[in-house]
Amino acid sequence: MTFVVTDNCIKCKYTDCVEVCPVDCFYEGPNFLVIHPDECIDCALCEPECPANAIFAEDEVPENQQAFIELNAELADVWPNITEKKDALPDAEEWDGVADKLEQLER
Ligand code: SF4
Ligand code: F3S
Repeated sequence: MTFVVTDNCIKCKYTDCVEVCPVDCFYEGPNFLVIHPDECIDCALCEPECPANAIFAEDEVPENQQAFIELNAELADVWPNITEKKDALPDAEEWDGVADKLEQLER
């Protein structure tokens, strides 16, 4: 199983998650992070670290966010690896909790 980054990460990208991942399996786009499903070892350390509560175990991803399972796999193959925390996006607090941000996703 893998963990999955979902909608509420978009335009927030706090990056607290990357610091705790023992296998460095986060990949970074302009305004979203994803987890590589073949590299994640299912340790669950990242889930409580996300201030936006955007990380779920694959079998607990909400019904309306199932598309993010495939999206993490797809984008992890093309985006660069990220292993260190950086500043959140400038408008992170304003976007935290806004529903359905998928159309804001930059690739
Ligand atoms: Fe990394 Fe563990 Fe989170 Fe998977 S569950 S992304 S291995 S911290
Ligand atoms: Fe995104 Fe949460 Fe990590 S907002 S960058 S999944 S800490």
